[in-house]
Amino acid sequence: MKTKSFLIPAFLFFSIWSVAQVPAKITVEQQKAETTVAPNMYGIFFEDINFAADGGLYAELIKNRSFDFPNSPFMGWLTYGKVSVQTEGAPFSRNPHYARLLNDGLLTGTGLLNEGFRGIGVEKNKKYNLSLYAKNVNKDENKLKIEIISAANEIIASGEVEINSGNWEKYKLELQAKETCAHAKLRVDLISQGELDIEHVSLFPAETWRNRENGMRKDLAQALAELKPGVFRFPGGCIIEGNNLETRYQWKNSVGPVENRPVNENRWNYVFQHRFTPDYFQSYGLGFFEYFQLCEDFGADALPVVSCGMACQFITDECVPVDDLDPYIQDALDLVEFANGPVTSKWGKVRAEMGHPESFGLRYIGIGNEQWGEVFPKHLEAFQKALDEKYPEIQIIGSSGPSADGEQFDYLWGEMKKMDVDLVDEHYYKDPDWFLQNADRYDDYSRKGPKVFAGEYACHVQPEKKNSFYAALCEASFLTGIERNSDVVRLATYAPLFAHVDAWQWKPDMIWFDNLRSVKSANYYVQQLYSKYKGTTVQNVKMNGENVVGQDGIYASVVTDKDNDQLILKISNTGKSEKEVELDFKLKELPSVLKGKQITLKANLDDENTLDEPFLVKPVEKEVALDSKSPKISIEAESFHVFVLDL
Ligand code: AHR
Repeated sequence: MKTKSFLIPAFLFFSIWSVAQVPAKITVEQQKAETTVAPNMYGIFFEDINFAADGGLYAELIKNRSFDFPNSPFMGWLTYGKVSVQTEGAPFSRNPHYARLLNDGLLTGTGLLNEGFRGIGVEKNKKYNLSLYAKNVNKDENKLKIEIISAANEIIASGEVEINSGNWEKYKLELQAKETCAHAKLRVDLISQGELDIEHVSLFPAETWRNRENGMRKDLAQALAELKPGVFRFPGGCIIEGNNLETRYQWKNSVGPVENRPVNENRWNYVFQHRFTPDYFQSYGLGFFEYFQLCEDFGADALPVVSCGMACQFITDECVPVDDLDPYIQDALDLVEFANGPVTSKWGKVRAEMGHPESFGLRYIGIGNEQWGEVFPKHLEAFQKALDEKYPEIQIIGSSGPSADGEQFDYLWGEMKKMDVDLVDEHYYKDPDWFLQNADRYDDYSRKGPKVFAGEYACHVQPEKKNSFYAALCEASFLTGIERNSDVVRLATYAPLFAHVDAWQWKPDMIWFDNLRSVKSANYYVQQLYSKYKGTTVQNVKMNGENVVGQDGIYASVVTDKDNDQLILKISNTGKSEKEVELDFKLKELPSVLKGKQITLKANLDDENTLDEPFLVKPVEKEVALDSKSPKISIEAESFHVFVLDL
């Protein structure tokens, strides 16, 4: 990788300073061999980190709803009176614990209080759907009072459920909140004298994304939809690998009725001691069916990733011997069948029973996450052989490990080339200088062999790793290089996607939220601009015959959009002063005046959107009309712009 330094020797300073007053000249001309931008180029990467799924996108409001958090069935619950945990005759075999409530007249009463995910968020006048499974133990009738209790200990919603059977039955209740509260609790109180069993206590907002049962939080799903993602990588990240093999993400556990999807330890539960979250488990309520459905909603290609039989190498490094990989490989094959197979197939039938007889049209599969070492290629080879034999149409994504360069990176790329995988997943969490100096990263990449999937990347500005405007500006500048090299980089996804302000482990993240609100980061807007204005065809952009990769602080790329008949210029100025830029469009048949809009992202470098100040950094649009012969534009210091011009 060639790196560029733009440091100016002191003796040259004066002469360069004088030159810098002259406008920078950027020429734009058609490429000899046309480079097309992949229509699904810019996407999203979802991982259940920072309470992104349970407590986040997945709209369930009850934590540990099935009393199955390992070793601690009442984690998240406060019990009072006579409450015990039971397993005998459990209604859901893969979530075998349930609670028994006995009210024998104790003055304390008997019941349970759920704390939600750092509280339960409810809004005034909105409706909430409670459901639970229950059965009476000794007599025919029992009564539960269900209440939502505010942080100020006021009852803000209330209702009763009569339990009238000795067999497990599902009961439902609609609650309406009288007040807004971000940190409410749910109380389940046995008000009759008697004994009953209770399981899978669930509370959802009545309004979810597309108003689905077992649905997603509306504002968070909407924020994803507005990114217009072309591809959706899920469910991680390290959680695919698990801290050990037992806790790896197993997609088969995430489909079928939600009540029987077994709880799994979340990879981020304890590994970050400075952001300890011992109550972090996966309910799998947001499972593979729901992921595929979201992809369909967004018009994005699904890119599921499966375990390759290697647990997280940073943690336990547990590894399945190659000869024992069959069940893992079978999981990958069955996943393709689940997504695409006919309803008559075993896994296609499961999909159909969940309400989607049509194929999900899966085209990609990732094998392993950030694996490295000599074992990984051997594992991948076994998966590749089986997948190619049965599903040659599915594109396989291999890994280049956790680093953006270095010995392992080079070794793995060599192996990926030998294996001729379709795409290689690259990850880079780097500082601003790296992003600014790597806008030329792909200029010299081999045009033969596997393509690149930039599967996880984000600019980390130390020490706080904020979602600052500076981080976004560096990413925007770097992405001009990705856009220019769209023939090599076919897919790109920023990471991670979501973070709960009270329960995060990792920064920066694209969208932050609490129990009621969410905020789009500056980085979000960069992704959105690239995705919305990705164009179809790359144009040659040069400054003094060179790609524009930071000369005088300027980064630029141009695409045309055949579908919308537009010319789109992306340009950033990372320098401390405004720059005059003279454009020379050597393109055929341009109108004499190029009309359109200029979208600008500009803020103080340290500015960060927060829940209280959500629009500190946001794109600002204005109309522009440029003389197409020799347009001149001024690019403010430390700013990023997208010019969308009608042809
Ligand atoms: O995105 C957070 C983590 O970063 C991912 O789980 C992992 O793939 C990477 O190291």
